[in-house]
Amino acid sequence: MSKSHLYVTRHLPDPVMTALTERFHLTQPPETAPPNRDTVLAGIRDAEALICTLAEQIDAPMLSKTSHLRVIANYAVGYNNIDLDAAQARNIIVTNTPDILTESTADLTWALLLATARRVPEGHSLVQHGAWTGWEPRQLLGADVFGRTLGIIGMGRIGQAVARRAAGFKMPVLYHSHTPKDFPNHSSWKSVGLDDVLAQADFLTLHVPLTADTRHLIGPRELQLMRPTAYLINVARGPVVDEAALVEAIQEGRLAGAGLDVYEHEPAIHPGLLALNHVVTLPHLGSATHATRIRMGMVCLENVVAVMEGRPAPNRVA
Ligand code: DGY
Repeated sequence: MSKSHLYVTRHLPDPVMTALTERFHLTQPPETAPPNRDTVLAGIRDAEALICTLAEQIDAPMLSKTSHLRVIANYAVGYNNIDLDAAQARNIIVTNTPDILTESTADLTWALLLATARRVPEGHSLVQHGAWTGWEPRQLLGADVFGRTLGIIGMGRIGQAVARRAAGFKMPVLYHSHTPKDFPNHSSWKSVGLDDVLAQADFLTLHVPLTADTRHLIGPRELQLMRPTAYLINVARGPVVDEAALVEAIQEGRLAGAGLDVYEHEPAIHPGLLALNHVVTLPHLGSATHATRIRMGMVCLENVVAVMEGRPAPNRVA
């Protein structure tokens, strides 16, 4: 039986590549770095299925160049990189990878929060550069985390997983969710308005998808409402935060610092952020564990196979 044609834009973890090549003919070899537009166009031209990542913009002009494409499996839970309307207009099914990256992304949120509050990268760099001369009473003083108020914007799967971890730090949780949500089993979680969570959080973490409504959700007005001792943590999508406004707020001492895993113009980073000691920057590592990245690939495969076999895709978003 001849194999269906799949274009997978990036080299996914080895067990995933093995499973994909057993089942499909790859239209061209996957890239180890973000492919340019022409490469993607060449890859999808004859493909019946596409597995892409959040770094590839799959837009209407690109989809207009395909005639066989039946499914796009996005190797991410967020799918703001795909023009859903254009896909739907061409009867192309779009899928994502929900659930499986929830816990690894929540873990990374806490890693970033703690690293930012306790200045972990600065301490590491001091030791690594041989610049540590011994214990010093005022060296790299940071902020307490235990018992402080955790603010969460976006109380979906990842927001809830982050909130569950707050119990270990005895942190009350204030959350703001687009759709009203109640958590009767969690008495220390309280739903509040956006301005209240901004004004009361010591650590504010963002867990919303990127949509027209959430672009620059955190801008000058919102940053002005935050405490000067507060920290902003973003592991969602970069454009949710107005980066220039964030730099200004930290430079002017209106915000204590930020932990960022995502950026407005990835992989470019606002130079002001790189110049600030109280900003910890990671290269979009939310889901980056061996097990999670393999599982994400297998979920993409399951979705593609389902569509090829005429079954409903398990993780269809459009
Ligand atoms: C996602 O799945 O949306 C993440 O950002 C990828 O790590």
